[in-house]
Amino acid sequence: MQVANIEEELAYIEKVKQINENKKLKYYILTMGCQLNENDSEKIAGMLEKMNYVRTKEMKEADLVVFNTCCVRENAEEKLFGKVGEVKKQKEEKGTILAIGGCMMQEEHIIKKLKQSYPYVDIIFGTHTLHKLPCDLYKALKENKKIRNILDIEGQIIEGLPITRDDKTRASVTIMNGCNNFCSYCIVPYVRGRERSRNPKDILEEIKDLAKQGYKEITLLGQNVNSYLRVEKEKQIAFEEYEGVNSFATLLRAVNKIEGIERIRFVSPHPKDFTDDVIEAIKDCEKVCKLIHLPLQAGSTKVLKEMNRKYTKEQYLSLVEKMKNRIPNVVFTTDIIVGFPNETEEDFEDTLDVVRKVKFEQVFMFIYSRRVGTPGDRMENQIPEEIKHKRFDRLKELVESQIEENNQKYIGTTQKVMVEGISKNNPNMLTGRTDSNKVVVFEGDKSLIGTMQELEIISEHKWYLKGSGVWSQISSK
Ligand code: SAH
Ligand code: SF4
Ligand code: F3S
Repeated sequence: MQVANIEEELAYIEKVKQINENKKLKYYILTMGCQLNENDSEKIAGMLEKMNYVRTKEMKEADLVVFNTCCVRENAEEKLFGKVGEVKKQKEEKGTILAIGGCMMQEEHIIKKLKQSYPYVDIIFGTHTLHKLPCDLYKALKENKKIRNILDIEGQIIEGLPITRDDKTRASVTIMNGCNNFCSYCIVPYVRGRERSRNPKDILEEIKDLAKQGYKEITLLGQNVNSYLRVEKEKQIAFEEYEGVNSFATLLRAVNKIEGIERIRFVSPHPKDFTDDVIEAIKDCEKVCKLIHLPLQAGSTKVLKEMNRKYTKEQYLSLVEKMKNRIPNVVFTTDIIVGFPNETEEDFEDTLDVVRKVKFEQVFMFIYSRRVGTPGDRMENQIPEEIKHKRFDRLKELVESQIEENNQKYIGTTQKVMVEGISKNNPNMLTGRTDSNKVVVFEGDKSLIGTMQELEIISEHKWYLKGSGVWSQISSK
């Protein structure tokens, strides 16, 4: 696979650093999208900090403002333009540099609107041009230029960007970029380009390094994470096998062996790529969480076909059954869209039926949003907003009615909990998450933060579980 040579671009980091010397400049970054978007922001932060910028949480204080955008649903657009408007005054007052990047910047109509109505934006960069930010910034600072650096390249992998991570125990590692699935509602394949996987060696070295730094939980990221290396194999694109890694399943097994890493998660997989080797790897690898995100999108086979999801209702349900049989204590979360064009009452009932049957731990629910350029947007029989909202409310009601029942199964069990910090609602308690991502609140000493603890679950409180550790039993004796 083609790994881009970015030395020339990175040399600009030094140049900007010199310009900024002794200036005590601050940057502010707003991340508007998914975990991949967040991981990109960590790389943006990494580059900026190497260029002498210090992070601020207050946009008003910043000398450099970065918006990392998302366009998966419509509401993001209004939010972005509102924010861009807010920066205008700040620019006039103190010359703040404004840079906008991310998925929305790959959309032509957005660029047009920015050029027309917001010409004061200094830098626009796309999803393939993150590494060019230092060079863009240099030109904006030195030559006072407006930079529009959006490329439509395919197939390149960028390695070696500096990174400043948001967390000290949990880290995300992007293993593949882009998507080839073209679900008919979705904009992602158009803004993130074609699927391309990173080399196994680069991924494993990154994770080993994270383990050395004390990270305990790794989330492997990709728009279609379990099709890792699939395209490379199909198209016979050369990649270097490393420590036996030549597929998603073998990658899970290799990461599972890395000392110091205690928990492995991955998002977002596609049901069609849950091959048997992946299921076996999840079962065998003790560090891989037995919480599987399995995006359903819709329960009706007819709607699934129109969405181009490549599975039927029955195939989805039998995949769930198969995993339940093979992987002890496996549980699921999902994504669901309501109100896709042509969705009838009967189709929607199919969605509710799958939710009743699978009893997901968590359902991320979305109202269908028309995206310019996607087949879904061109379909007839768009569903009126009112019906979409009513269906959304009915789905929400069903999901909420299942929470208590779902939580009951934890009571009396012992769960491994990664201790995250002090509970926001009660400063005397600690909070953490189970393997299945449930929040557990419990009494304990602050020194436990950042460690993995075994807790007995004593009660459920809808949005969280209450736990008790050996230390609290000792202290109450
Ligand atoms: N690649 C991932 C995630 C894609 S975006 C996957 O395939 O699951 C995250 C979620 O946003 C999707 O799973 C889908 O439920 C939702 N989504 C995507 N496009 C949408 C649209 N046009 N309207 C509403 N929800 C959408
Ligand atoms: Fe979008 Fe479908 Fe690709 Fe997910 S798999 S990013 S929903 S096109
Ligand atoms: Fe949004 Fe781009 Fe992620 S569109 S969901 S930020 S890949």
